Formats: sequence, C-alpha cells, structure tokens
Amino acid sequence: MDKKSFETISLIDGLHSTPSRRYLSDTPIPDEIIWNIIDAAIRGPSGGNKQGWVWMVIRDKNTKTKIAHWYLKNWNKVYGIRRKEILSGIDDDALGPKNFLSADHLANHIQDAPLWIIPVLRDVADSQDPRVGSSIYGAVQNLMLAARAYGIGSTLTALHSTNETQIKSLLNLPDDALTMAIIPLGYPVKGRWSQPKRKSVEEVTYWESWNVKRDRAKY
Ligand SMILES: Cc1cc2nc3c(=O)[nH]c(=O)nc-3n(C[C@H](O)[C@H](O)[C@H](O)COP(=O)(O)O)c2cc1C
Repeated sequence: MDKKSFETISLIDGLHSTPSRRYLSDTPIPDEIIWNIIDAAIRGPSGGNKQGWVWMVIRDKNTKTKIAHWYLKNWNKVYGIRRKEILSGIDDDALGPKNFLSADHLANHIQDAPLWIIPVLRDVADSQDPRVGSSIYGAVQNLMLAARAYGIGSTLTALHSTNETQIKSLLNLPDDALTMAIIPLGYPVKGRWSQPKRKSVEEVTYWESWNVKRDRAKY
C-alpha cells in the first residue's frame, strides 16, 4: 500500500482486525498521516466535551531512548522475571506465550518505532476518579484504528507509568497533566491484521441482571 493512501474496509471489519502490533519497522511515518490520525483521534468522546487532552508527538531518538530504558526496566520487573513460567505455561498469565514474546520484543525495541504518540490528559494528575481515563481512551482507540487504516500498527502501552515524574519533567508537561499511555506506531514487519482472540461475546454479556446470559446461537 502506498504510504499516504488508506485502506477502505468496513468499520466493523476494521474493529475486528486491529490487534496490538509490536513488530514494527523504523520507516518514518509522513507528517501528513500523523496529522490525519490525530485529527481522527480528537473526534472521540470526552466528558462534557472538555477535550482536556494534548497529543504529544515524539520522534526524537534521545527522548525515546531515555523513556525506553525505564519501560524495559518496568517490563522486566513485571513480566520479564516470569519469562520461563509464562512461556512454559506454568504461569497462565492472560497475556499468553505468543503475546509475551511480542511484548518482550516491543520492550526491547520500543525506541526503534519511528513515532510515539503520548496522549496526555489535563487536570487529572491528582484525580481519585476511577473513571478518569474515560475522557481519553475512546479517542485513543480512534487513533489506533485510524493508524490501522494507513497500514500502521500500534499498541496501547502503560508500563512507563512508574516513571511518570521523570517523563513529565523530560517532556516539560505541566503539573496537572497525566500521561495516559505511550503508543508506539510503525509499519508492521511481522504478523497480520488478524482478529484478536477474546473470551466469547456470550460469556461476557449479561442481560438485564448480573450473570444472566443468553445463547447467541438462537438469534
Ligand atoms: C491499560 C493497558 C495497558 C497496556 N500496557 C501494555 C504495555 O505496557 N505493553 C504492551 O506491550 N502492551 C500493553 N497493553 C496491550 C495489551 O497487552 C493488549 O491490549 C492485550 O494483550 C490484547 O492484545 P490484542 O488486541 O493484540 O489481542 C496494554 C493495554 C491496556 C488496555
């Protein structure tokens, strides 16, 4: 696909075929596409339409390398130390062996992704509201789907958050701001736009009252 053209598939097909893509080339992403995908992101919802967000575009190698160092340390602390157990299945972490390997690859190469977008939310740094992220994650998903339309893969990551203070200082963020994710983006070099594996829709859908399930096959 030409780098600036986008793929036309149905919205439903796109929703069903946008897994995390963690094996990415370092081929640069044109500015025009960066604008387009952020312009799609900001069409997403926010409480009271406050749009208290900023979308940080990060391409600087030094910045990425610094943050990547923290990211890898956190990855190793949370997942890396369980490598053998997760890969052998003794540790049945929901991530699973295949995603573990791709997440491990990303943790070791995140700085090579040509573009990071860091969604930042204002006035929430001290928030105790468990729903605070709802005013940006819809827009984040828009961003990842828009990227997919241009053949660009992405992953919503959050392992940087332990180093929030250092990252805020590195990027000159105001005190009230919170980084809500780091999204590394790039043209995929491995894997497919396959349907992500999930629990079945029947298992996670309750009708009218807790635990009341229906068999979809009847409809
Ligand atoms: C809140 C949140 C934090 C996440 N953090 C990371 C992360 O730090 N690193 C990573 O590789 N993936 C991260 N992910 C991606 C999940 O691992 C991914 O959504 C899940 O495994 C499903 O992947 P799939 O859509 O490819 O099936 C995160 C996702 C969410 C929603």
